[in-house]
Amino acid sequence: LYKMKRMGSKQVLVPTVSCLLLLFCLGCKCLALELEATQTATLKVDASSQLARKIPDTLFGMFFEEINHAGAGGIWAELVSNRGFEAGGLHTPSNIDPWSIIGNDSSIFVATDRTSCFSRNIIALRMEVLCDECPAGVGIYNPGFWGMNIEDGKTYNLVMYVKSAEAADLTVSLASSDGLQKLASVTVPVAGTSNWTKVEQKLIAKGTNRTSRLEITSNKKGVVWFDQVSLMPSDTFKGHGFRTELISMLLDLKPRFLRFPGGCFVEGEWLRNAFRWRESIGPWEERPGHFGDVWHYWTDDGLGYYEFLQLSEDLGAAPIWVFNNGKYLQILSYQ
Ligand SMILES: *[C@@H]1O[C@H](CO)[C@@H](O)[C@H](O)[C@H]1NC(C)=O
Ligand SMILES: *[C@@H]1O[C@H](CO)[C@@H](O)[C@H](O)[C@H]1NC(C)=O
Ligand SMILES: *[C@@H]1O[C@H](CO)[C@@H](O)[C@H](O)[C@H]1NC(C)=O
Repeated sequence: LYKMKRMGSKQVLVPTVSCLLLLFCLGCKCLALELEATQTATLKVDASSQLARKIPDTLFGMFFEEINHAGAGGIWAELVSNRGFEAGGLHTPSNIDPWSIIGNDSSIFVATDRTSCFSRNIIALRMEVLCDECPAGVGIYNPGFWGMNIEDGKTYNLVMYVKSAEAADLTVSLASSDGLQKLASVTVPVAGTSNWTKVEQKLIAKGTNRTSRLEITSNKKGVVWFDQVSLMPSDTFKGHGFRTELISMLLDLKPRFLRFPGGCFVEGEWLRNAFRWRESIGPWEERPGHFGDVWHYWTDDGLGYYEFLQLSEDLGAAPIWVFNNGKYLQILSYQ
């Protein structure tokens, strides 16, 4: 019709053709409705074994999505949240949430700086004890993800990196959220050197509290730096860092594939915050971690590409790695 309009001399044709078309369409419409109303169809299903097709073993599996701390804080057994003090960003001093201090402004001063021994996650925590004699001890604590589930008789492995110019005795404890009930406690002597030292300690709980916290305190004036503080139960699934009770439930599902790690987690709200598999392999202490800006929380990527492959193997499931194809959520929402 548009073409005819432009032909000038044949302009008169336009209304006529339009009417004819309209009538034709209405006619078709009526016909179609009539057919719909009267026609019936028979569908025959041949379920004979000759025609049956075997459902592939790999049809049923699991979709894992990093959302609401399903990884660290969920199936991953790490108890410390923000273990490398990186969550507050690269500027210093930064917010050390959810870490907090034990003591007050006149007895302790903490701030982040860029003195870590790990170049890819350079933020460390500097703790200055101001009181000469602090009988109860002052320091820092971490409540984990909604509190740590510390169970009677279980062993917990602590790993942390410390640095102190002067020798110091640190007390590492597992305590109730108000600090009053001590479930485990060890003294960690720190030699006075200019070097970072890796500390490894076992803590055995002599009580249960589902909302516990990890405390690191000192009662002597001085400065101690901390980085990459990790606490894990010793009985993880096959010793690979996953929570045994949750993985046994996954095993019951007999998954033949495991898809990971997301979801929008893979994309990021912005590409700079997308999950990078290369930065989630190798020694956990050296992984930079990243801010998952879609679900708004920091992840240290201790549960990374390598660990997901390990879990797939342990579950007897084929790994299905979801990678970023260059898209991120902000771009998708404008398309
Ligand atoms: C800080 O704590 C100490 C020891 O508990 C106490 O004596 C002091 O009054 C406190 N200072 C402030 C400013 O709250
Ligand atoms: C755990 O600690 C909290 C806070 O101190 C306390 O209220 C609660 O009773 C404790 N739970 C157990 C089982 O001891
Ligand atoms: C500190 O580390 C450097 C380099 O690894 C080493 O040469 C030095 O001996 C260490 N110093 C101490 C006191 O451990």
